[in-house]
Amino acid sequence: MEYRKLGNLDVSVIGLGTLRAFDVTDEADLAQRGQIIDNLLANDINFIDSAAMYGAAEAAVGATIKGKRDKFYLATKVRIEGKEPGEQQIARSFANFGVDYIDIFQVHNLIDTQTHLATLERLKEEGKIGMIGVTAMVNEAYPEVMDIMCSGRIDTVQIPYNVVQTEVEEGVLPLAEELGIGIMVMEPLKKGRYVKELKGEPDLAPLKEFGIKTWAQALLSWVVSNPQVSITIPATSRPERIQENALAGNLGTMPQELRDYVREETLRLL
Ligand SMILES: NC(=O)c1ccc[n+]([C@@H]2O[C@H](COP(=O)([O-])OP(=O)(O)OC[C@H]3O[C@@H](n4cnc5c(N)ncnc54)[C@H](OP(=O)(O)O)[C@@H]3O)[C@@H](O)[C@H]2O)c1
Repeated sequence: MEYRKLGNLDVSVIGLGTLRAFDVTDEADLAQRGQIIDNLLANDINFIDSAAMYGAAEAAVGATIKGKRDKFYLATKVRIEGKEPGEQQIARSFANFGVDYIDIFQVHNLIDTQTHLATLERLKEEGKIGMIGVTAMVNEAYPEVMDIMCSGRIDTVQIPYNVVQTEVEEGVLPLAEELGIGIMVMEPLKKGRYVKELKGEPDLAPLKEFGIKTWAQALLSWVVSNPQVSITIPATSRPERIQENALAGNLGTMPQELRDYVREETLRLL
């Protein structure tokens, strides 16, 4: 597994997202998520992203990493209007995870950013969180994201970036590189659509020699082959996907002609 700097952390380039996939409460579902956590460890993945807004996901992460907290960096997000509601939601995230330290706390989709940044800066000073980030997922939000990046108040940014959605290549990614801000990529598989909802089977033959065996690996390798990306966090509810997805973090940089091929093949099948 390749590791890169995300702010001051050394993270595996493939991490785990928990949107929908970890929003579970019953015993059998939690046991399966526990298997996912074990598979992360077996495949040298050390990063998990969640959010207050992902239903039971933070609590499911908390339950399944019990006794293994020191093996993972945890990121989560606050998303609510107002200082006190924000403080309460942040406190619940610590309780849901069952931890007294969270590695990265992000303002989710720029909701009441200035208010929450002040709270998160206080928590960082108190040593309760390690780094501060923001997340955004629409192109119109990127000018504001870049202003916040330039303000010096954040360490990480989480944005969508995949074979089809490449807008961040124009502004956010080069600025992050210039400022030393970590880039966390959400939706590398476009919520799974670019694997599960293609109108035919992608031709993997040109990618075999590079070591790629599945289309998900091609899409993930495409993302992390941009060195401006610190980590991507594909979500999954299925333990067997972890090893498959982790392989994309072992391949090194995909040559540009193969990156072009993966993009064209995806567009052909959408
Ligand atoms: N605004 C924000 O801050 C924001 C917004 C969106 C996402 N995020 C974060 O980014 C993470 C990733 O985004 P996402 O979950 O929306 O989308 P994603 O990671 O692009 O796709 C996740 C979907 O892909 C499927 N999948 C994963 N590995 C696969 C494989 N090897 N083969 C086939 N299907 C596979 C999963 O289904 P299975 O369960 O069947 O494997 C899941 O439904 C989220 O979990 C969340 O942590 C943040």
